[in-house]
Amino acid sequence: MSIASNVLRRAFRAATSLQSFMLDELGAAKVDAKKMAAAFDRLVNRSALDQRERRRRTFQSIYNRGVWGKDETTRFFSGVGSNPAAAEFYVGQMAALLERHAKELGRPLTIVDLGCGDFRIGKALVERLPALTYIGCDIVPELIAYNAARYTSARVRFQTLDAVCDPLPEGDVCLVRQVFQHLTNNDILSVLTHMPYPCAYVSEGQPVRRIGPVNPDKVVGASVRFDWRTGRGRGVELNQPPFDLPSQEVFRFSLPPNEVIITERLDLTSGALAKGLANKASAVSR
Ligand SMILES: C[S@@+](CC[C@H](N)C(=O)[O-])C[C@H]1O[C@@H](n2cnc3c(N)ncnc32)[C@H](O)[C@@H]1O
Repeated sequence: MSIASNVLRRAFRAATSLQSFMLDELGAAKVDAKKMAAAFDRLVNRSALDQRERRRRTFQSIYNRGVWGKDETTRFFSGVGSNPAAAEFYVGQMAALLERHAKELGRPLTIVDLGCGDFRIGKALVERLPALTYIGCDIVPELIAYNAARYTSARVRFQTLDAVCDPLPEGDVCLVRQVFQHLTNNDILSVLTHMPYPCAYVSEGQPVRRIGPVNPDKVVGASVRFDWRTGRGRGVELNQPPFDLPSQEVFRFSLPPNEVIITERLDLTSGALAKGLANKASAVSR
C-alpha cells in the first residue's frame, strides 16, 4: 500500500473517531444529529478512499448511528418513509401491479429489491403475495446477515452488493425504493445502466414545492437533495437531465407536511433506452 493511501486511511480513521466523539457529545446536548451526519457525508466523500468502500462505510455508519431513526423492534431502521401507513399504501399498490406482471408472464414472479434496507416493505410484500420469490439486496453486509438470519425461506433470500458496480441478480421486476435519493447522479446512472431487468419501479421522495435546477447532484449519504423541513428544492427526477428517461408515474403517497413519495415505472427493454443510458454513463465518467 502506498504511503499516500496509508496517510489517507489514517486521516479517515481519525476523522471518523472525531465525528463519533462529536456526535456523542453534541447529541447529548440535543444538537441536530442530521446536520452532523451531513457534515460527515461531505467529509467521507472528500477522502480518497475507494468509492465502493466509501459507499459501504457511509451506509454502515448511518445504521450504526441510527441517523434515520430507531425502532426497538429491530437493530436496523431504514427511516420513516417505510412507517406503517407509507408501507401499507406502497405494498397495496405494488402487490396489484406485481400480480398483473405475473399474470402477463403466466408464472410466479421473482423480484429484486435493490437497497432493501430493514425489509419492512419486502416482508409485507412477501406476506401479501404467496407465490412471489423475493431477493433483497443491500450494500450493508451486517444488515443483510441480520435479515438473512431471520427471514430466509424457500422464496426469500438476501445478497450483499453495491448496486452501483456489482453484478445484479436475475429477476423479472426490480424495486428501488428511496435509494437513489441518497446517491450521486453518476451512481444512479451506473445502477440504471447495468440493470438486467425489463421493468423497474423506482420510488423517490419529492418536495411539495419543486424549486431550483433539476437533479442537483449530492454526495452519497443520509441526506436527500431537497430540504425536507421546508418542502422546497428538487428530488431525483428520472425524466429530466442527466437521466432523461421515459418514466411514468404509477402512484404517489403524501408524507405531510412537506414530502410526497412518488413511484415511477421504467421500461428498460428498449435497446435505444439502454444505449442512451450507456452513452450517458460513459460521458459522465470521462
Ligand atoms: C432509505 S433506505 C430504504 C430502504 C428500503 N428500500 C425502504 O424503502 O424501506 C436506503 C437503503 O439503500 C441502501 N443502499 C444505498 N446505496 C446502495 C448501493 N449502492 N447498493 C445497495 N444498497 C444501497 C442503504 O444501505 C439502505 O439500506
